[in-house]
Amino acid sequence: MPRPIQATIHTEALRHNLARLREAAPDARVWGVVKANAYGHGSERVWEGLRGVDGFALLDLAEAQRVRDLGWRGPILLLEGVFEARDLELCSRLGLWHTVHCEAQIDMLAVHKTHTPHRVFLKMNSGMNRLGFPGHALRTAWTRLNALPQVDEISLVTHFSDADTDKGVAAQVQAFERATRDLPGERSLANSAATLLYGADPAVRGDWVRPGIALYGSSPDFPAHDIAHWNLQPTLSLSSRLIGLQQVAEGDTVGYGSAFTAPQAMRVGVVACGYSDGYPRHCPTGTPVLVDGVRTRTLGRVSMDMIAVDLTPVPQAGMGSEVTLWGRSSHGAVLPIDEVAHAAGTVGYELMCALAPRVPVLVAE
Ligand SMILES: Cc1ncc(COP(=O)(O)O)c(C=O)c1O
Repeated sequence: MPRPIQATIHTEALRHNLARLREAAPDARVWGVVKANAYGHGSERVWEGLRGVDGFALLDLAEAQRVRDLGWRGPILLLEGVFEARDLELCSRLGLWHTVHCEAQIDMLAVHKTHTPHRVFLKMNSGMNRLGFPGHALRTAWTRLNALPQVDEISLVTHFSDADTDKGVAAQVQAFERATRDLPGERSLANSAATLLYGADPAVRGDWVRPGIALYGSSPDFPAHDIAHWNLQPTLSLSSRLIGLQQVAEGDTVGYGSAFTAPQAMRVGVVACGYSDGYPRHCPTGTPVLVDGVRTRTLGRVSMDMIAVDLTPVPQAGMGSEVTLWGRSSHGAVLPIDEVAHAAGTVGYELMCALAPRVPVLVAE
């Protein structure tokens, strides 16, 4: 019998979250961001749930090829554009739209031989200071692109650094508007946080929003707001079972480094899940977990293949009881991935992307 650990992709939850994002940004088209193998879910596994998007946005050519292989004929956007000149050949062949964020990418386009001109997304650096042309150089870049026979349509794009914080997006929106005021073309600015928080504002939602994390049922501004607040559903559940039970006495310790000492006699369950499955080793005692759908907590250090949990609130639990590390239990109870990530000092993005290849994944309705 295989180890009982299992990840489940919830197809209906992907559809639900996509509908929520559409609602938050009325009239805008939606790029489904599926970079990093669809945030660890697997591009092929989210396909059924996300095929209702208007386009897929991703990073590398192999991912783009996989999306085309699934039968997608609609728009695909390379969020960082091409990395070398020969990438443009595949862009021509697969009909990819690509970001242009620096002079070197314009140089490559200028010598690219193609019969079909490309649609490009000219990126402005409005304050993130990662990729993009500064405002004062945007017009020159646009004029250069506009003069190239290799270029068909030019859209304008920027990315927010603080859509999920108190700083907000106003300064970046203003900078983008100032730099693009009299340039034609479609606009794309908003990630998940900006779509949910500011999508009602036409200047923020533009023509295309680019949500990633919210599609996957993680709140972009947790802990300020959780997924219940945003009416999002978990799309990735990690579950396992109890494979061991211990009755410990007051003063007994649990696990490596004796990191947890029992304050009184208690029942401890041992779960078939550890850091080599992608569960964060940094989760301290007290990280929430569901046993038979009942909320309890982890005890002591996370090991490579096991975690100890407190069975005090679940006296009926025994060998084989279901454990939900995050996501939805078969009893319907939900433990948002954001709570576990927060306990580990990280974000839901990292946990999703770190799901280990050894964990079997089931695609459910
Ligand atoms: C350019 C760009 N747009 C959109 C996204 C999606 O962001 P999020 O997952 O926060 O919605 C990302 C992800 O980092 C990105 O780099």
